[in-house]
Amino acid sequence: MSPFQITRTLPEDATEAALRSDVLRGLTTDPKTLPPKWFYDAHGSELFERITELPEYYPTRAEREILVDRAPEIAAASGARTLVELGSGSSDKTRHLLDALTDLRVYVPVDVSESALTLAGQALVAERPALEVHALIADFTASLALPETPGPRLVAFLGGTIGNLLPAERGAFLASVRALLRPGDALLLGTDLVKDEEVLVRAYDDAAGVTAAFNKNVLAVVNRELGADFDPGAFDHVALWDPRAEWIEMRLRARRTQTVKVPALDLAVDFAAGEELRTEISAKFREEGVRTELATAGLALTHWWTDRADRFALSLSTVR
Ligand code: SAH
Ligand code: TRP
Repeated sequence: MSPFQITRTLPEDATEAALRSDVLRGLTTDPKTLPPKWFYDAHGSELFERITELPEYYPTRAEREILVDRAPEIAAASGARTLVELGSGSSDKTRHLLDALTDLRVYVPVDVSESALTLAGQALVAERPALEVHALIADFTASLALPETPGPRLVAFLGGTIGNLLPAERGAFLASVRALLRPGDALLLGTDLVKDEEVLVRAYDDAAGVTAAFNKNVLAVVNRELGADFDPGAFDHVALWDPRAEWIEMRLRARRTQTVKVPALDLAVDFAAGEELRTEISAKFREEGVRTELATAGLALTHWWTDRADRFALSLSTVR
């Protein structure tokens, strides 16, 4: 068997049907929304990698610091022979785990971005010929059919991506992760922490405008896939801290009155000047909240590690 296998769990037309229904629902409700998983086409995945290198975007560096310091402890606690990673992207930070997990046999990266999975998977098998890489093109918010692989299993969900789900979606998501775990398996979860508003807003509104380009990329995806005529230059990138919900909210604000046509949906959408389209939230966490959400899903938090500046946390939890 080839060491790198890639499996699409959804037919391509299912993805298109999901995009159509998401865009139809999102652009005909008030306030208008577009769901975040559509950010990550090949160009979006590339832009996200540039975000991780920005001086303002601390989460990637903070999480890497924890992984470097704690990978041996994580490996000892899990003893995993299979590592499943949800929203794996470039799998770059994951290398610290792959190095530390001495009994690891199979790595299962799961992502909606086929280009990110292919790039990451090919690089990994070239570096590590003994590792079996079984990539899955799948939506981690839908039910996941994982390949039969040896246990124990460690499921990693890094990058603070859990913060991109709304609280109700998070509950359903954690319950579905819990259902993937058997006794002896574990979840390694990365959560960005509540901190100074200025630091948070800068991380999502950088000086070089890479995050703005990333946010606007969702318009390019809708243009290409559904024949829409969004003018990305007619929208401003907005990042706001909501202190009650404790999340950053990303929006695209119409610079002027405009009508956008979406031929594939037979739709014309009016925007008032200043009207905002909501694109993504990025929730920030506290230890007690994470512990409670995990417990609600039937998971017991056993370890909590932060970087030296207390910006980001990794937690390990097991089946209760
Ligand atoms: N884990 C990496 C990447 C984080 S960016 C890191 O920590 O740097 C979020 C990743 O999740 C992207 O690669 C994106 O393509 C993927 N993603 C977003 N929504 C998804 C979904 N619903 N299902 C599967 N993957 C998703
Ligand atoms: N998971 C990342 C985060 O919440 C995703 C992200 C970073 C993002 N910057 C963004 C999503 C800008 C949308 C817009 O930090």
